[in-house]
Amino acid sequence: MTPPPEELVRPGECHVWTARAVSVRASGAPALLKLLDAGERARYEAFLRDEPRGLYLTAHALLRDLVGAQLDLDPAEPSFAAVCRTCTSGGHGKPVLPGSPLHLSLSHAGDQVAVALTYAGPVGVDIEEIGRVGDPPLTVLSAEERAAYDRLPAGERAGGFTRYWARKEAVLKATGDGLSVDPALLTVSAPDAPAALLSWAERAQPHPPVRLYDVPAPDDYAAAVAVLGDGCRVVRHEVAYDGDGVLRRPRRAGDGVLRRPRRAGD
Ligand SMILES: CC(C)(COP(=O)(O)OP(=O)(O)OC[C@H]1O[C@@H](n2cnc3c(N)ncnc32)[C@H](O)[C@@H]1OP(=O)(O)O)[C@@H](O)C(=O)NCCC(=O)NCCS
Repeated sequence: MTPPPEELVRPGECHVWTARAVSVRASGAPALLKLLDAGERARYEAFLRDEPRGLYLTAHALLRDLVGAQLDLDPAEPSFAAVCRTCTSGGHGKPVLPGSPLHLSLSHAGDQVAVALTYAGPVGVDIEEIGRVGDPPLTVLSAEERAAYDRLPAGERAGGFTRYWARKEAVLKATGDGLSVDPALLTVSAPDAPAALLSWAERAQPHPPVRLYDVPAPDDYAAAVAVLGDGCRVVRHEVAYDGDGVLRRPRRAGDGVLRRPRRAGD
């Protein structure tokens, strides 16, 4: 299926798609499953519970759908690899598409998935469910972040912590460090301020500048995307899969403007 041109990622843009995970309880979503390669299918099969299976399947099928549309390939065709910064055992780490200038990242939490694609530089996207953990692990905050967190009214703390966490993890996923780096070494801007990486202790000039953006997310979620390189325009889409596992074409939602995906027959 050829996507409308506005769905394609252009230079200077970073596109982020979010979707609700499909349920694999009844049908197993065969149309999505057939997009996965053998390794992805093995990981899918290894989950013991339906919810993480559905999340994993939706995230990886959506990534394939979008990369296929972007590069005019069959979605099952791309051969992804994973790069770990701390070991060489393989099979885990930052996802990449070898030989392509397209950078990608994915995230899943609660019942939501997020996928980011850009040509602007290495990218990290993170989506987090607000209030998922009862007592937020405040040790991931730097001293400066902790002071700002402590000043938040009680009713804003769960959302504030989740905003911090999504921003920090987006940065660590863009660099490929993941949680091998202590998130408390990074200081990002306060939850009510525009997203920015303010400092990174123990890392002088690690890579191109980190550009950090909040991404509009469904209620009860916070999401952020980080790109290493020049600033870019973030374009957000919300997409959905039909019951049979067919992606309803994503719709350009503008910068932060949320629109519902088209329904069949629109
Ligand atoms: C990557 C990590 C930050 C993900 O956190 P999370 O909130 O649980 O998960 P998310 O849903 O947001 O992201 C998961 C996706 O991030 C990607 N990812 C994994 N490692 C990554 C890394 N180092 N950098 C960027 N992206 C990574 C994968 O695509 C993964 O999806 P998959 O598991 O379905 O394949 C965290 O799990 C981590 O850092 N793990 C590795 C820790 C490490 O480096 N250990 C040493 C190994 S030798």
